[in-house]
Amino acid sequence: MDDYELVIEAMKAREMAYTPYSRHKVGAALETKDGKVYMGCNIENAGYTPTNCAERTAIFKAVSEGNKEFKRIAVVGGMDNMAALDVCPPCGVCRQVLREFVNPDHFEILLAKVDKAKDIPSIRKEDIEIKKYNLSQLLPLGFGPENLF
Ligand code: THU
Repeated sequence: MDDYELVIEAMKAREMAYTPYSRHKVGAALETKDGKVYMGCNIENAGYTPTNCAERTAIFKAVSEGNKEFKRIAVVGGMDNMAALDVCPPCGVCRQVLREFVNPDHFEILLAKVDKAKDIPSIRKEDIEIKKYNLSQLLPLGFGPENLF
């Protein structure tokens, strides 16, 4: 799967977002080293605090199904009334959750800008602009499992 295809998977996941409070819909597609893709959306809650981000939904789905060897994640997010999805940087909690399972120098985070004028099936590579980071860039000097051993 190439970068653009992974972003499209994140776009599809975003369609499932449950966001009655913020209306900010986020989708994530997490690729494992063995080539599986776990999709996640944000799931909000009337109590606000229990809200789960799209990235963590995807990560927890993967871990709960026995897979914690992650290669990269694509994230797309934005309000439904926006003409284009701008880059949606993962929140600090999601960065920390990723840190638990990945080598921060190798794990890639793809953030995309996507023109929303088209339906997902008609989106082409030219409609997607990807910014790529590794986790070390987004979470410098992160606290990880090796700090406890
Ligand atoms: N959100 C995510 O799902 N992922 C992010 O990377 C940033 C924020 C969600 C949480 C909440 O449902 C909404 O976006 C507004 O904060």
